[in-house]
Amino acid sequence: MSKSEFHRIRRLPPYVFAEVNAMKAKARAAGRDIIDLGMGNPDQPTPQHIVDKLVETVRDGRTHRYSTSRGIPGLRRALAGYYARRFDVRLDPEAEVCVTLGSKEGLANLAQAITAPGDTILTPNPSYPIHPYGFIIAGAAIRHVELAPGRDLIRDLARSAEHSVPAPTAMILNFPSNPTALQVDRDFYREAVALAKSRGMFILSDIAYAEIYFDTPPPSILEVEGAFDCAVEFSSLSKTYSMPGWRIGFAAGNRELVAALTRIKSYLDYGAFTPIQVAATAALNGPQDCVEAARTLYRERRDILIDGLAKAGWAVPRPTATMFAWAPLPEPCREMGSLAFAKLLLEEADVAVSPGIGFGEYGDGHVRLALVENKHRLRQAVRNIRAFLAKRGVQAAKLAEPVA
Ligand SMILES: Cc1ncc(COP(=O)(O)O)c(C=O)c1O
Repeated sequence: MSKSEFHRIRRLPPYVFAEVNAMKAKARAAGRDIIDLGMGNPDQPTPQHIVDKLVETVRDGRTHRYSTSRGIPGLRRALAGYYARRFDVRLDPEAEVCVTLGSKEGLANLAQAITAPGDTILTPNPSYPIHPYGFIIAGAAIRHVELAPGRDLIRDLARSAEHSVPAPTAMILNFPSNPTALQVDRDFYREAVALAKSRGMFILSDIAYAEIYFDTPPPSILEVEGAFDCAVEFSSLSKTYSMPGWRIGFAAGNRELVAALTRIKSYLDYGAFTPIQVAATAALNGPQDCVEAARTLYRERRDILIDGLAKAGWAVPRPTATMFAWAPLPEPCREMGSLAFAKLLLEEADVAVSPGIGFGEYGDGHVRLALVENKHRLRQAVRNIRAFLAKRGVQAAKLAEPVA
């Protein structure tokens, strides 16, 4: 049997981003300065007090032993403290919180824990790839539900639930959304919980961008009455505290789901390295001005990019949260699809972006631009893109209004 025939590997299509990444690497090897707005990888270092806590803790040899798979008690309590402060939600750190090795690991392993082969799962599309693929790897069938501004996602999810055989076991929500940057309010979550309960579904909510907002703070689904009956929510320190490499996230909410994840993880890992968990506790319990500073930084970058692109004739909606702009392909390039456009932009403008098709079929009319380069380089990216568009007849002078 060849590798390509392995049951689970066969279910994974070629990674779309790999094509652009390979081109990017080749261009860099050839000495070109590529401005990388591709991956959502925070570029800022982790705040000093968190790093200091890691260093202090790692000097104590007792912390070098196996840790606790579901997370040290102090860190679970710190997450409960965050939910109480931020969302006015009470969590029992013993039964309603599990620490994960990044939220991605938690999502994937919960999918493994709760899925029987052939189960149906509802996933908004476009989406962060682990949302569908965690379940696809686990043997589920995915029903993709289009996510776009102006569409009624609850109505579309309800219709999909009604017409799915077997009836879906779970649906995934991710707001603020990667890649679309769309946000929802509490009413949306109320309707989602009502739908889930009426159809006997679980909800997996991912709020990785809950603290990267520029306007209205995003709510948690756990604020809504009845949510604990059906929903588990994944949060992460990766974006909030610029800690993507540390691999710390959380699952919180419904006891049955938290117990399932805790149990499967107890077979798979020994938890994150204790000094990382202690430093993560310091992040949640410590001063929060670093989070406000991150918001300010992303807001400034957002405005440079969105205003600059508008002046170049490319109207891109101004995101109200996340570190992404979700940009419809500009007029002259609309027909070529997002992968061809991303390749062309890299070749001609030295700017790397993520093709929307990498987030699912409904993403193909867009590319995602991540705000992970400094202001100076973002301005350079805008100049390069302006020249790229001008070559295709887009008038920089004909001012396109940025969409609010
Ligand atoms: C929506 C979403 N969820 C989860 C993650 C992964 O977060 P973590 O680093 O906690 O695994 C990301 C990272 O880009 C993301 O965009």
